[in-house]
Amino acid sequence: MEALIDAHGRPITDLRVSVTDRCNFRCRYCMPAEGMPWLDRSDLLSFEEIARLVALLARLGITDVRLTGGEPLARREFPRLVSMLRPIEGIRDLSVTTNGYLLERDARALVEAGIDRINVSIDSLARDRFHEVTRRDALPQVLRGLEAIAAFERVRPIKVNAVAMRDFTEDEVFRFCELARSTDYQVRFIEFMPLDGDRAWTADQVLTGDEVRALIEARHPLEALPREPHATARVYRFRDGGGEIGFINPVSEPFCADCNRIRLTADGELRTCLFSIRETDLRAPLRAGADDAELERILRDAVWRKELKHRVNEPGFVAPPRTMSAIGG
Ligand code: 5AD
Ligand code: SF4
Repeated sequence: MEALIDAHGRPITDLRVSVTDRCNFRCRYCMPAEGMPWLDRSDLLSFEEIARLVALLARLGITDVRLTGGEPLARREFPRLVSMLRPIEGIRDLSVTTNGYLLERDARALVEAGIDRINVSIDSLARDRFHEVTRRDALPQVLRGLEAIAAFERVRPIKVNAVAMRDFTEDEVFRFCELARSTDYQVRFIEFMPLDGDRAWTADQVLTGDEVRALIEARHPLEALPREPHATARVYRFRDGGGEIGFINPVSEPFCADCNRIRLTADGELRTCLFSIRETDLRAPLRAGADDAELERILRDAVWRKELKHRVNEPGFVAPPRTMSAIGG
C-alpha cells in the first residue's frame, strides 16, 4: 500500500484524534470563562466511527495516535475507545493528552485498555496560580492524577506540558525545573499560539522557548539531546544531574517542514494543519455508507493538499475559525 504523502513530499504517520470539544477546565489561553457552544452529541463521531477511520489510516501508514479533546477523559467511557484502538495493526504508539483532572479515577482503566504514554497539561505548580490560569482550583487533584498514572511503570515517558506566557510563566520556571529534576517526567514548555477562544492572543504574550531556556540556564546549565525525527520538542538534560526539559516552539521556530501530522476533530473533520482554514468532512461520507476505497480517496486527496506551513508570523495571518479545544491540541 502506498504511504500517505502530501504534495510537499512529507509522509504522514501521526494522527491526533479529538474525542470531545468539551472540557471541565477553562484555561485562559484556550477557552472563555463561559465555555464554548458545544457540539451536539449526535455530531460526535461514535467510538466505532473513530475506530474505523483509525484502522483505515493505519493501513495507509499512520503509526502514532494521540487522543485529545477538549478533555478526552470527559467523554463517557473513554477507556473503552482506547481498548478498541489498541488492537489495530500498525499502531505503534497510542497516547493521551489530558488536563489530568479525571486521571486519578481513570489511570488504571487506561493502562488496562493499553495506553502507551500520557501527557498531562500543567501550567503552574502553585495552587493559586494554577487556579488563575485554568479557572479551576484543581492543582492537587491533577497532581494526584499524575501520580496515579506514574505508578504504572510501563506508561513512559510521562510528559508534563506547560503553555508559556509572558509575565506569568517566568515565575513557574524553577518549580518546573525542580519537578523535572526530582521525577522522571519530561517537562515541556509550549509557546502560546493564536488558538485561544477569547481571540486575545498577541505576539508579545508569547514567552519563547529561548527565553525560558535562558532563565533556566542562568541557574542550571543544560545540554541538548539529539533531535528525534519529526519531534516537535527540542529536549535538553540538566548537566549536573537527572531530568529533562523540552521546548516546543511553534511560534518562534516553526517545525512545519518536518511535519508528519494530521488531525481528526470530534465531529469528524480532517484537518491537515493546526491552523487550517479548510477542513475535509469525513463524517458525512462515513454515515452515507462510503466504503473504504471511497474514504481512502478522500483522505489521500485531503492529505495531498496539506498546508506547506503556518503563517502565524506573517502579516495578515488569519486565525482558524476553530480554537484549540475544538481542534484537539
Ligand atoms: N497555545 C499553546 N498551547 C495551547 N494549548 C491549548 N491552547 C493553547 C494555545 N493557545 C495546549 C494545552 C495542552 C495542549 C492540548 O494544548 O495546554 O497542553
Ligand atoms: Fe480544557 Fe485543555 Fe482547553 Fe484547558 S487547554 S480549557 S484543559 S481543553
